Amino acid sequence: MPSLVRTRPWDVHRLPPAEGRNFLVTGGNAGIGYFVAEQLASTRATVVLGSRDATKAAAAMASIRSRVPGARVRHLRLDLADLSSLKSSVEALELERLDAVVHNAGVLLDEPQRRETKDGNELTFGTNHLGHFALTHWLAPLLSAAHGGRVVITGSFVGKSARLDLDDLQTTRDYRPKRAYERSKQAQMLFGFELDRRLRAVGSTTLSVVTHPGGALDSLTPSRPSVHVRTTGERLRGLPAGILVQGKEAGAWPAVRAVLDPSVVGGQLWGPRVFGLRGAPGLESVRGHLADTVLGARLWAASRDLTGVEPTFGPG
Ligand SMILES: NC(=O)c1ccc[n+]([C@@H]2O[C@H](COP(=O)([O-])OP(=O)(O)OC[C@H]3O[C@@H](n4cnc5c(N)ncnc54)[C@H](OP(=O)(O)O)[C@@H]3O)[C@@H](O)[C@H]2O)c1
Repeated sequence: MPSLVRTRPWDVHRLPPAEGRNFLVTGGNAGIGYFVAEQLASTRATVVLGSRDATKAAAAMASIRSRVPGARVRHLRLDLADLSSLKSSVEALELERLDAVVHNAGVLLDEPQRRETKDGNELTFGTNHLGHFALTHWLAPLLSAAHGGRVVITGSFVGKSARLDLDDLQTTRDYRPKRAYERSKQAQMLFGFELDRRLRAVGSTTLSVVTHPGGALDSLTPSRPSVHVRTTGERLRGLPAGILVQGKEAGAWPAVRAVLDPSVVGGQLWGPRVFGLRGAPGLESVRGHLADTVLGARLWAASRDLTGVEPTFGPG
């Protein structure tokens, strides 16, 4: 018999309360991650900003507190480009359980020269994908401790069409920063879907959900003094772009929904409804390279070899 219970459509401005829950947002000090943290903090949850820069994190927390009276926000020192630091960062969380982590932090370089992380990995791939892959490993016990914990991956529309080169994941040949970024975002998304398959295989209640923010520009983003200031000139210059893309507060909506919406299930892809570039979050189909399970499994194995760890979850 069809259910008679009608659920209210998701409203990005009326989020369900999440008091007592703990969320970690990587790169929560700036950009889309800041707005993910601000919106999650408005639910009364405890929100931890994973950030390598304590001063920036303090500014972000002050801004959130000024907008959300009584907000429960904390800073966790986190550098995704230093794999050896991640275990102690997770220990410093001092939480009994984590209800969701949003893998939001990311780098897109513009200099033509190839750079590496402390661990000798190409900087974009190493930060965006390998850092989050290893972080998930260290967070697994805390996520498992929360029934229905969530790993929310921030991909990108460019990650859908990129072509990951498994024979040159570190882009040692013909390095181009934009291409390295696109491949790193595809790697993150493939990781999210592969993680979902592994979670289901062991009967875990933890969910892995992939999201992307569409196109999100600073010039379309409302000011948050001390975090981001948009001048009148920038706002006016950005207006035409608003037809196609959006600001970073709206770019945060898919990830926030993936954290909070009880109807979200693992393995889904959420992005903005309007051409996948702007608007309220909507469900997208997973196809093309993103649906390639062999590619996902091979990337997982390569990521395990490069980081020396792998996210492991048990039943429950
Ligand atoms: N904006 C878009 O249109 C768009 C489109 C598709 C996907 N995305 C994705 O959305 C996410 C956020 O993008 P954004 O536009 O908000 O970028 P952003 O404004 O440049 O912010 C990036 C965040 O990542 C942090 N970060 C960088 N390297 C880090 C490291 N090694 N350890 C910890 N944190 C680190 C930054 O911290 P610092 O302040 O310390 O540098 C900052 O908080 C990224 O994953 C990006 O790929 C964005």
